[in-house]
Amino acid sequence: MIFKNIVMAKNKRRIKIRSLGFYAPEKVLTNLDLEKMVDTSDEWIVTRTGIRKRRIASEEEATSDLAVEASKQALENGRLKVKDIDLIILATSTPDTIFPSTACWAQKGLGTDHVPAFDVSAGCTGFLYGMIMAEGMILNGTVNRILLIGAELLTKVVNWKDRNTCVLFGDAAGAAVIEESDDESGMLSYYWKADGNLGNLLSIPGGGTRMPTSPRTVAQELHYLQMKGNEVFKHAVKRMGEAALESLKLAGLKREDIDHFIPHQANTRIIEATGKRLNIPPEKVYTNIDRYGNVSVASIPISLQELNQERKLKKGNIILMDAFGAGFTWAAVTYRW
Ligand code: ACO
Repeated sequence: MIFKNIVMAKNKRRIKIRSLGFYAPEKVLTNLDLEKMVDTSDEWIVTRTGIRKRRIASEEEATSDLAVEASKQALENGRLKVKDIDLIILATSTPDTIFPSTACWAQKGLGTDHVPAFDVSAGCTGFLYGMIMAEGMILNGTVNRILLIGAELLTKVVNWKDRNTCVLFGDAAGAAVIEESDDESGMLSYYWKADGNLGNLLSIPGGGTRMPTSPRTVAQELHYLQMKGNEVFKHAVKRMGEAALESLKLAGLKREDIDHFIPHQANTRIIEATGKRLNIPPEKVYTNIDRYGNVSVASIPISLQELNQERKLKKGNIILMDAFGAGFTWAAVTYRW
């Protein structure tokens, strides 16, 4: 397994992100709004998580609607039409429906047909899992250009009476057009892992085949996201550190080579602890969790595009993307801009 990754790192052919886009719903929910809904305070939320506000989808919006908006921007920024795409991969933990896939709903929303489309379920790590899959499929010639979307609508699966979880999440989507690189830029290495033994620490237990929706599962609120927050916290710091170091090693780079560290935005304390563990100076660590909350798979593509729009990504910059999520899953990608 590791051997394969090393081959990838040394392989001269690589994939690159041609363009990016993102979308966050208009409605803003602040910590002060939350104070009126559950027994919490702005002070607690900011100190424990770093979150100040988050975007909330409207009642009519579903995950694929967010995905379509982000995708339209990514296509426009890449000067492409949807007909130029050969495959849609959509990462999400909050699908429109159990089936069909949200990727198929997004395909419909984009007004295209016959383009293959499927979902990736890897929790907050889904966007990086998608990038790794895109590399394989593009470099082996299966397809030329992939629309990779990370879309999440967590506010419809959190229990708004549970202060432990409802303050943490927001809704958003990010999208990237991925194709083969024709220069030195692109994905240099990746590291990805999962541990299903720890799945129960972060899950929606009801509504699947293990526990089909019934009056009992609804009464017991098993259709909502459940999380052992402090356990998730510990594993996240450890695994994000591991993934980052392994991915860097596979790329033949050192910590000092990193220009931008883009961690999944779950909690400012997780981000800070990971940055510290890796010895990356805070000014190289990107954060936007204060504005969006935890938007799961959307957090890395949004961060990338915000840095891009701020013109902070210079040609040749080394970017380390790092994520951890439900599963548990964790992954890191080292990328040359
Ligand atoms: N407001 C006020 N008090 C609160 C709130 C709140 N919103 N939430 C919890 N508390 C209380 C608890 O009830 C507890 O009170 P007690 O001591 O009287 O029992 C106290 O605060 C401390 O609770 P802890 O859970 O120990 O708090 P902790 O410091 O661990 O912070 C948090 C909780 C923010 C959830 C943290 O553990 C965390 O961020 N964990 C990681 C979450 C995460 O990364 N999820 C990502 C994956 S999401 C995905 O993949 C879809």
